[in-house]
Amino acid sequence: MTLESLPAQASGTFDLGGDLTVNRLGYGSMQLTGAGVWGPPKDEAEAIRVLRRTVELGVNFIDTADSYGPAVAEPLIAKALKPYADDLVIATKGGLTRSGPNEWPPVGRPEYLRQQTEMSLRWLGLERIDLYQLHRIDEKVPLEDQVGELKKLQDEGKIRHIGLSEVSVEQLEQAQKVATIVSVQNLFNLTDRSSEKLLDYATEHGIGFIPWFPLATGSLAAEGSPLAEIAEKKQATPAQLALAWLLKRSPVMLPIPGTSTVAHLEDNMHGAEIELSDAEFAELNAIA
Ligand SMILES: NC(=O)c1ccc[n+]([C@@H]2O[C@H](COP(=O)([O-])OP(=O)(O)OC[C@H]3O[C@@H](n4cnc5c(N)ncnc54)[C@H](OP(=O)(O)O)[C@@H]3O)[C@@H](O)[C@H]2O)c1
Repeated sequence: MTLESLPAQASGTFDLGGDLTVNRLGYGSMQLTGAGVWGPPKDEAEAIRVLRRTVELGVNFIDTADSYGPAVAEPLIAKALKPYADDLVIATKGGLTRSGPNEWPPVGRPEYLRQQTEMSLRWLGLERIDLYQLHRIDEKVPLEDQVGELKKLQDEGKIRHIGLSEVSVEQLEQAQKVATIVSVQNLFNLTDRSSEKLLDYATEHGIGFIPWFPLATGSLAAEGSPLAEIAEKKQATPAQLALAWLLKRSPVMLPIPGTSTVAHLEDNMHGAEIELSDAEFAELNAIA
């Protein structure tokens, strides 16, 4: 396989923070944990195969978090991919605690964010985290203190770039007074465009926009998908169309579809190779 033929490369590149080039179609590692994003994967060997296959398919942007498992996805990434390829960017997050399956209470106290950055460095086996995202703003703690601690960690060389997750334009602007924010990660897909205002702001300012649930947790990809008919016409799969639509929506869009299987990963990555005409894009746009 030549370098040119790696499917994720067909998504084009984006320079995170102006100096960290990634292929726009990445991979999200949340599905590699147990049910409710709690505990180990049901099939660890397949999880390792998925991670190794991402890189073989041209992915060099992997999203994770300390809270996936917790402490499951990050050590798995290290186990599967170390020694890391020079161009691999691992984006992690901190600021959510775990009290059980599907429970995610935010804790944004500076000492906790510092501890979790240290834990992520250890679990990932890194000396510096390329992109550290505040997973949620903790309303009990001033935003300035949360982003301020990440800025301190950046000044100490433990974090390269800072990102935010689930924020409004106003919160992003507030955070930007404390540190340079290079990316935002909000829920966004064909059927949930509630973060459109933030996306437009990110596009205008060259800030990476990482849409989570890009496949609407699988409902856009599964049987009965609202994209099934258009996909058949286009000789693509619904998952590929959902990702191609995102990639065409904005040049700062960095989708991170999640999956626990190599078969679905391969399906998704070929979405980068689908070219949508303006008419096809408009037809997809009309699906709310
Ligand atoms: N910042 C945040 O607060 C936040 C919140 C949620 C998620 N995230 C990040 O966003 C990433 C993406 O979200 P997500 O993984 O929850 O949702 P998603 O990417 O929208 O969808 C994943 C679901 O779709 C299924 N799927 C994937 N590819 C498929 C295909 N080709 N055909 C059929 N089904 C397919 C997966 O099942 P299989 O495993 O069976 O493939 C899984 O159930 C996460 O991995 C995580 O990194 C961030």
